[in-house]
Amino acid sequence: MLNYRKVIVMNKDMVKVDIERYDPEKNRKYIQTYEVPRGTKVRVLDFLNYIFEEIDPSLAYRRHLCNAKMCNACMMMVNDKPRLVCWEVVSSRQNEITLSPLKRGKVIKDLVVDFGDKDNNEESQ
Ligand code: FES
Repeated sequence: MLNYRKVIVMNKDMVKVDIERYDPEKNRKYIQTYEVPRGTKVRVLDFLNYIFEEIDPSLAYRRHLCNAKMCNACMMMVNDKPRLVCWEVVSSRQNEITLSPLKRGKVIKDLVVDFGDKDNNEESQ
């Protein structure tokens, strides 16, 4: 009997982006995976913008912000840690990223959280 081993070959020019999505109409959470060419992308926000513009315009996240680590509105969980995605660099050794909404606040859709009346001042670590 042959023993097959599953071999996963990651293309180092591609980054696998797992995104925790939320569909408010169906009240359903699920993980969606995208394969994104690394290209000249540097920050997590570059990868999100690529997914939105080239693959899936239904993805909801905060866009058109300061892009300069000043407003904190782009904060989300990156690999289970709160990060400002406009500032968070994806290193050339990183082949996978997991994105999910911040743990605080009510998720409106996908990666968009309602911060309510509180200031959006959670610190990036
Ligand atoms: S976009 Fe303003 S802090 Fe990231």
